[in-house]
Amino acid sequence: MNDEFTDDEKAGFYKAIYSRRDVRSHFTQEPINEETLTKILHAAHHAPSVGFSQPWNFILIKDMKTKEKVKESFQKEHEKASKLVEDPKRSEYLSLKLEGIMESDVNVCVTYDPTKFGPFIIGTTSIPEAGIYSVCGAIQNLWLAARAENIGLGWVSIVSNDVLRKELNLPEHIVPVAYLCLGHVTNFEAKPDLERSGWLPRLDLKDVIYFEKWEQKEDESWNIIKKMIESNLK
Ligand SMILES: Cc1cc2nc3c(=O)[nH]c(=O)nc-3n(C[C@H](O)[C@H](O)[C@H](O)COP(=O)(O)O)c2cc1C
Repeated sequence: MNDEFTDDEKAGFYKAIYSRRDVRSHFTQEPINEETLTKILHAAHHAPSVGFSQPWNFILIKDMKTKEKVKESFQKEHEKASKLVEDPKRSEYLSLKLEGIMESDVNVCVTYDPTKFGPFIIGTTSIPEAGIYSVCGAIQNLWLAARAENIGLGWVSIVSNDVLRKELNLPEHIVPVAYLCLGHVTNFEAKPDLERSGWLPRLDLKDVIYFEKWEQKEDESWNIIKKMIESNLK
């Protein structure tokens, strides 16, 4: 095989995965260079998609007036969400920084268009959600490429889709999937903010793996990998 990854390339790939962070603070004023942003968008556009439907669009946003409207929506939704938990969890929740809409250089709304290439898309007849899953694959590509380019990215889902529809002129059939904030950052934290603040821990890999059937934790034929997973091999 002549297209194998070298050890250095593998190391770079895993570095992007393990050091990618959701970034809400640490944004600097430095604008993202156009060539870098183009490369990141190109990587997103090369994600897998059900039936090769490429059902995504990327709306690039710099306009401060749009950002302000989205930030207002965040504040409203954030306030609403805070009422769903009791103190001391509520105060803890309110102390978290959960967006970088105004501070980040570029905001990107990633959307899903179920109508691209007509109604018959291979792979969506039994599971129509496969279209949205494809958009999420593009978002992950975008996120990893951003990390490889040393650009921070934060996903904001505490925002009203109705506000996004209105502010971004989305037609009825277009679904906003993600609102992303991108920019240069002072640093990338080694661990997720929500882990560092003690909000939630990272689960052990061994606790999310089953063998052959739901909740089956033991199976003779999987013993080798079971031991490797338990030893935290990376
Ligand atoms: C679908 C989705 C929505 C998210 N929405 C928010 C959000 O509204 N605000 C926020 O601060 N982080 C948001 N995040 C980021 C997660 O909190 C973050 O990925 C998680 O805590 C793990 O941290 P890491 O991405 O740095 O590894 C979202 C992530 C995903 C995948």
